[in-house]
Amino acid sequence: MRFKIKKQKGWKVKNSRPEEYLLSPKSYYTKDEVEKYSRSTGMRKAQQKIALRVLELLDIPESSNILDLGAGPGLTAEVYRDAGYIITCLDTIPEMLEKAKEKGFEYVEGDMTNLKQIFPKRKFDAVVSVSAVQWLKTPEEIKSLAEGINHVLKKGSPAVIQFYPRSERELNATAGIFKKVGFSVEVITDNPANPKKRTIFLVLKKS
Ligand SMILES: C[S@@+](CC[C@H](N)C(=O)[O-])C[C@H]1O[C@@H](n2cnc3c(N)ncnc32)[C@H](O)[C@@H]1O
Repeated sequence: MRFKIKKQKGWKVKNSRPEEYLLSPKSYYTKDEVEKYSRSTGMRKAQQKIALRVLELLDIPESSNILDLGAGPGLTAEVYRDAGYIITCLDTIPEMLEKAKEKGFEYVEGDMTNLKQIFPKRKFDAVVSVSAVQWLKTPEEIKSLAEGINHVLKKGSPAVIQFYPRSERELNATAGIFKKVGFSVEVITDNPANPKKRTIFLVLKKS
């Protein structure tokens, strides 16, 4: 079941984005699109800026192990590595991971809603995700993601998710699902009054 967006208060995105009209990232990230994405200077700059903010919000010691969900070609992962962290990149698109592999990252092919199965025993000091979670379309998928993050995180450890919900209502519903799974949740919105620059982070802590 998709999130139900009824008449509502709060902001709502007007433009239709690929995440809404395509079934999965696999239909969007063709080989050509992966090339275009991984070479785009604009994308690199945008991802790097968000990654630096993620590090600020994470506030964890150097050398911590970070799992990057929807890591793509590793644009955000490069920022984390340069800052002294040890990164595992996870993505569903093999061509994306090929790029991350070329940069020397440990990479795992898989779906972020499947973390329990992918990492039955392995634990991380932190989990991050930048510009990827909006591909999950249903509350059930968000719940699987939340339970999976809870499973792979060490006790007391943080996760930061930056994503593009379609509306304030969807943002609050997503935050609510993480709370139900047992996280403490803080929603941080940078540039809240500017829809083009609005950047939303869920800062989560496993108790
Ligand atoms: C904007 S791109 C990459 C962002 C990445 N942070 C970077 O540094 O480039 C979003 C990525 O999320 C991945 N993605 C989308 N849904 C996913 C899912 N359910 N599981 C794993 N990866 C997913 C896509 O394949 C794509 O590579």
